[in-house]
Amino acid sequence: MTLPDCSDRTVLLTGGTRGIGRAAARKIGDLGATLLLVGRDAERGEATTERLRQRGVDAEFLRYDLAAQSSVRDLAATVRERVDALDALVNNAGLARSSRERTADGVPVTVAVNHLAPYLLTHELLPLLTDSAPSRVVVTSSGVHERASLDPDDLDLRGDYEGFDAYARTKLMNVLFTYELADRLRGTGVTTTTFHPGFIPSSGLYRDSAFYVRAAMRLLSILPVGQTVEDGAEALAYLTCSEEVADVTGRYFDGTTPADPSSDARDERLRRALWDESAELVGVDPDWPRAERET
Ligand SMILES: NC(=O)c1ccc[n+]([C@@H]2O[C@H](COP(=O)([O-])OP(=O)(O)OC[C@H]3O[C@@H](n4cnc5c(N)ncnc54)[C@H](OP(=O)(O)O)[C@@H]3O)[C@@H](O)[C@H]2O)c1
Repeated sequence: MTLPDCSDRTVLLTGGTRGIGRAAARKIGDLGATLLLVGRDAERGEATTERLRQRGVDAEFLRYDLAAQSSVRDLAATVRERVDALDALVNNAGLARSSRERTADGVPVTVAVNHLAPYLLTHELLPLLTDSAPSRVVVTSSGVHERASLDPDDLDLRGDYEGFDAYARTKLMNVLFTYELADRLRGTGVTTTTFHPGFIPSSGLYRDSAFYVRAAMRLLSILPVGQTVEDGAEALAYLTCSEEVADVTGRYFDGTTPADPSSDARDERLRRALWDESAELVGVDPDWPRAERET
């Protein structure tokens, strides 16, 4: 896969300090892009950016906790302060918690980080992305979304909670969000795509999962099973930088190949219900981005 020179582009990459995101930061940085990497762990974040700088990449680490809505808003304010243009927002950070532990905002951490943070961060940065058009929003979903179903009135997962099922539901939310966002952004020059990076047992994703999941992943990571972080990073870099997909919007990819997501993921009623419920949970006008354009 050949990707173009990106020396005039600025990319904000959440979860860029580990796993798929860290490998993608190397690829996108090597193309010349300026990188803003978001993570929680200061040591890991600084070490990642330092290694990138040693390769000649213009990279900055932004330490923000995407589980807290106030922190997502602060992150967006910092980005707006730091850069005049944003060519790509990559909502890649994610986790798979075994427990329903809630954030200070009262939602399960898995829903907060995997779905509400991309939703709110995109909302907060959309004026910058629109002013920077052509620009892109890329969301890292997963093939496990196919196993999930969703009740948009139960985003805080009050019913029975099972960690992997909750994770799969948030990955379905990623696809629903992307498709709805694409529809709402038609004609703005901001495109949006989502993708499955592959099954990558060697990443850090499963570290907060149940013991048996962690044990299985440890075993699988030493066997020739699934994909590598480099494979996932290639798909992420492709959707972020390739000219081939510059005009593609509202599409799901399996790696770098366009694919059909589950029928639930294409359910228009479900995606609108999720949009409205998410708006309420993060306290924004559900009519965005139209509401913002009219003010
Ligand atoms: N691995 C797989 O098999 C697989 C399959 C399909 C989809 N995916 C998706 O790929 C994406 C990346 O996952 P990965 O496998 O690369 O996992 P990973 O190795 O655990 O990396 C996750 C990244 O997200 C960041 N992050 C997690 N919680 C955060 C929070 N509250 N605030 C800020 N940053 C946070 C982490 O930063 P810190 O280390 O600083 O916390 C880290 O940089 C996720 O969206 C995941 O759902 C993964």
